[in-house]
Amino acid sequence: MHTPTIHPLEGATALAPLIEAYRGRRPDRLPVWFMRQAGRSLPEYRAARAARADIGMLEACLDPALATEITLQPVRRHGVDAAILFSDIVIPLRLAGVEVDIAPGVGPVFAEPIRDRRGIEELVARPIEEGMFAPVTEAVRLLTAELGPIPLIGFAGAPFTLAAYMVEGRPSRDHLAARTLMHADPGLWRALADWTARLSGAFLLAQARAGASAVQLFDSWAGSLPAPDYRRLVAPASRLALAPVREARIAGGTVPTVHFGVGTAHLLPDLAGVGADVLGVDHRLSLTDAARAVPGVPLQGNIDPALLGAPWPVLAEHVHRVIEDGARAPGHVLNLGHGVPPATDPGVLTRIVDLAHA
Ligand code: CP3
Repeated sequence: MHTPTIHPLEGATALAPLIEAYRGRRPDRLPVWFMRQAGRSLPEYRAARAARADIGMLEACLDPALATEITLQPVRRHGVDAAILFSDIVIPLRLAGVEVDIAPGVGPVFAEPIRDRRGIEELVARPIEEGMFAPVTEAVRLLTAELGPIPLIGFAGAPFTLAAYMVEGRPSRDHLAARTLMHADPGLWRALADWTARLSGAFLLAQARAGASAVQLFDSWAGSLPAPDYRRLVAPASRLALAPVREARIAGGTVPTVHFGVGTAHLLPDLAGVGADVLGVDHRLSLTDAARAVPGVPLQGNIDPALLGAPWPVLAEHVHRVIEDGARAPGHVLNLGHGVPPATDPGVLTRIVDLAHA
């Protein structure tokens, strides 16, 4: 894999509002993007998928031209301050040869749960090589050529969230199987978490080298863990996943890293402690409280997705409140507390962008 001659952080995106905020500064314009901004809320997304009804969601992610088009859709429509690669947290598992698919309306489903010694030993024997991410790094290169001053965010799933799917074999509410495994057989858990961390770490680094201007580690389900378990059994693996990008010198400096989870009020200092520059916060906690919990850390969030369906004056007041609370952090990137619900009127998202930029 080759690094582009000029990485966007060397010029085009070096002073982008998103990057400035991620570095803890206050740009002239409040940067905003939305988790799941590319997806079913957009008619043009549904059309692009329908035009390729012969392939599934993950195959669409692995088609560089199609992934590029879908990634650009929300940038064109909403004027957001970042593109996030159209991909999924299970893509590197698929590229490593794991049998996994996305069931529409459900989420990641595995051919078999990976939870016993045989399954985990088979998994961790799979080699991790930079070349295996080629369909994704190709999309990153196509995108950085198109995006100009708009930064592209690459991402990966954190070891716990990926394990929560693998060990269960499908989405679950309380992630019991993964949380049981870490106590029932800590050695086996560590083997699973470490391999997954190396996979996500290599995947993040490949995206950063190919031209992503920032990367985000999604530990969506970390909030289900008690803090002592998170610290002892999960944080070391998340640190390992962030380390390759954190330690890389790209474009003469560093590529900003973001760490996000849902329902993590009890974990914020620990989430911040694994080595990310920025913390993503969901809507259950105000950014004022988050800024108090992790002083000095730039924050991203946290409009309540439920309010996207409320009358505009109600939503606008909520957004103003989020912006005010966000002002207590050294840098703030406006976002949702979690993903865009599929039924969202996309016009509402555009209005939020206009409000943030006004
Ligand atoms: O934010 C973006 O616009 C980028 C795209 C993105 C997707 N998945 C596309 C997608 C991102 C950042 C993800 C990450 C992801 N995937 C996470 C972490 C973020 C989070 O939401 O907490 C998780 C937990 C997953 C696993 C996953 N993949 C779920 C739970 C689902 C939803 C299943 C459904 O149909 O409701 C997916 C599928 C998925 N990933 C879709 C998209 C656009 C929907 C697929 C479709 O039907 O078109």
